[in-house]
Amino acid sequence: MDQRIAVGLVENPCCWALEALAAHVPGDQSAIEIGAYRGRTTGWLALGAQGGNRAHVYSIDPWTSGSIPTGYADLSPSVSTYNASETKAAYDAHLKETGAASFVTPIQATAVEAAKTYDGPPVGLILHDGLHRAQDVAADLRAWIKHTADDAVIVLHDTDDARLGVSEGAARVLATKANAEKWAWNGRVVHSWAKNAGKAPEQRRRGFTVVYTRASSYPQLSAPITGRICNEVTPRGCNLRGL
Ligand SMILES: C[S@@+](CC[C@H](N)C(=O)[O-])C[C@H]1O[C@@H](n2cnc3c(N)ncnc32)[C@H](O)[C@@H]1O
Repeated sequence: MDQRIAVGLVENPCCWALEALAAHVPGDQSAIEIGAYRGRTTGWLALGAQGGNRAHVYSIDPWTSGSIPTGYADLSPSVSTYNASETKAAYDAHLKETGAASFVTPIQATAVEAAKTYDGPPVGLILHDGLHRAQDVAADLRAWIKHTADDAVIVLHDTDDARLGVSEGAARVLATKANAEKWAWNGRVVHSWAKNAGKAPEQRRRGFTVVYTRASSYPQLSAPITGRICNEVTPRGCNLRGL
């Protein structure tokens, strides 16, 4: 098994962006994943880090202890599997089978709880892919940006789904006067594409957003992505044992 068959909910362009950005995180900093599910993005973060400066990855998800907000499961059939024991088992198996387990510390907690006890190095990268309501995104980012290094980057998944509040929640935190001194919210790069043709208009776009600091040294990713993108098998393998 390798990362080519990683089951998950994040499209390839976002996974490749995570790989590139994780490679840039200095070795004495960390990459934090909020919302791990079955380990797809975990593997890509670990792959990127190991191909770069070998920053450690902390992977946060409440898994079986998570609670799903009322009505949230209407968004997608996958939501009801978030806290299934099979999901955590699949995550553990994926990390073991890819070889990523040596480079990742899983933390079974909510993002807010995990931030309270985090004693790892300064955070160079945050992937937010936890609950997507504005209040959840804001609480998670508020809890974690205090751990970030001076130069860091935040990747927000699912920013172009009008049913969700990811951008709104992030703006509540990153666009405030206090945080705007560090975070270049207005300079964020939105990668957006069409999806779900034929479904309701509010379900037809997907994307992710990268938020840099004002003095960022992180690579700017290529221009916004257009065309049909799906969560297909990746053309590149990433068995971490081979690294
Ligand atoms: C969209 S899925 C993540 C998909 C994953 N990144 C992947 O590569 O497929 C959202 C995940 O967030 C988790 N989650 C729910 N509440 C959370 C919280 N408060 N903090 C962190 N993660 C949470 C869920 O258990 C679920 O596994």
